[in-house]
Amino acid sequence: MDKIVVQGGKRLTGEVTVSGSKNAALPVLISSLLTPEPCRYQRVPNLADIHTILKLLDGLGVKIDKDEWSRNNGDLKLQTETVTKFEAPYDLVKTMRASFLVLGPLVARFGQARVSTPGGCAIGARPINLHLKGLEAMGATIEQSHGYVEAKATRLRGARVYLDLPSVGATENLIMAATLAEGTTLIENAAKEPEIEDLANALNEMGGKVRGAGTDIVQIDGVDALHGLSHQIIPDRIETGSFVIAGAITGGDVWIKGARPEHLDAFLIKLKEAGVLLKFDAGGIRVQRNGKIKSVDITTLPYPGFPTDLQAQMMVLMSVADGVSVMTETIFENRFMHALELDRMGAQIQLEGNRAVVRGARELSGAPVMATDLRASVSLIIAGLVANGTTEVSRVYHLDRGYEHIETKLSELGARIERIKG
Ligand code: EPZ
Repeated sequence: MDKIVVQGGKRLTGEVTVSGSKNAALPVLISSLLTPEPCRYQRVPNLADIHTILKLLDGLGVKIDKDEWSRNNGDLKLQTETVTKFEAPYDLVKTMRASFLVLGPLVARFGQARVSTPGGCAIGARPINLHLKGLEAMGATIEQSHGYVEAKATRLRGARVYLDLPSVGATENLIMAATLAEGTTLIENAAKEPEIEDLANALNEMGGKVRGAGTDIVQIDGVDALHGLSHQIIPDRIETGSFVIAGAITGGDVWIKGARPEHLDAFLIKLKEAGVLLKFDAGGIRVQRNGKIKSVDITTLPYPGFPTDLQAQMMVLMSVADGVSVMTETIFENRFMHALELDRMGAQIQLEGNRAVVRGARELSGAPVMATDLRASVSLIIAGLVANGTTEVSRVYHLDRGYEHIETKLSELGARIERIKG
């Protein structure tokens, strides 16, 4: 298994370009199942999770042209003239929960699907009850056995669905399913993330009728068929936030090209409160530091609140801030595993249930640490950038799920970082 080795102490300076959003690309690529026509995508990030979803789509019979994509310009063409299989197998769904999003499109277009339930993952239980509740309301018959969900419907019909929680995945699954249903669907208490707006835009470019994406009530008027499209994936706001923190914590001056600050309001407001200097324009975000980082309290919330996917990275910044920060994780029940590794680097973090009390330390010291999940892995690298000495991060396969060439991007900003093939 590969390791990443970081020598701390270098200020990051210069320009970095943010990649396409993993969490937008996954549902958008899956939505190609909804039409027999060719679907062209630009700025698809070259990530392990994208490879996983392409493997799953290939297994269903989707034609995939990834020559351009593998040459890293991010262009990808998918075409589902038909499917030869209706099953998403356990080995793929267990590695990546987003695979479960094929359920809605398969039932909507082909009337059937057999998808493994995702089970749990490192950061907590990953239930799917809201996905199933919505599909049943739309007329699908759902059976669960042997770890699989089997769903059938002659044709889904529009329904009014209330989500008990603003689940991102359930909102995406049900929007996709509703595009080909008979009649109108209303999803209430829908998730409002920018990735859902990007999915809705793609579906409307295919002839879908999706309104209200990005608000808590989404209306979808079903159509008989969708056509192909050409769509550019939005930039990755979580990668953006990770680079903002890396620039701030090293006292650097970094221009994040292509970033969209409007996707990170709550996060950027908290960074400003912490004393980070931020400048925005249409082309991106410039991050500088001006004096000490101040401790601020953080509570993760559904969008537009502070994103849970930036909690680990923010914890590192608070580990070297001037004061005490109370961080509350309200989305996932086990998303503080990075704290145990940061403690080994000298961070002073007290865990109390879903709350972490972070006392700013004078400095962190480099150490061998272990990545436990995607966002924890990048937080350990950020800690290594500012730690005194050498930090060796193992199990970086977690990192490769969601960050495209991050060691190259960081070294181009001046970091002393290298990947040791293992
Ligand atoms: C998406 O996961 C993201 N993944 C996650 O990013 C992100 O952390 C999460 O949304 C929250 O923002 C992708 O977009 C691929 P949810 P998802 O359904 O859809 C509960 C990363 O690092 N819930 O909004 O799985 C669930 O238990 C990943 O890129 C139900 O109770 O998240 C959780 O507590 C990690 N029943 C909460 O909702 C359901 O049927 C949020 O889950 C579904 C969800």
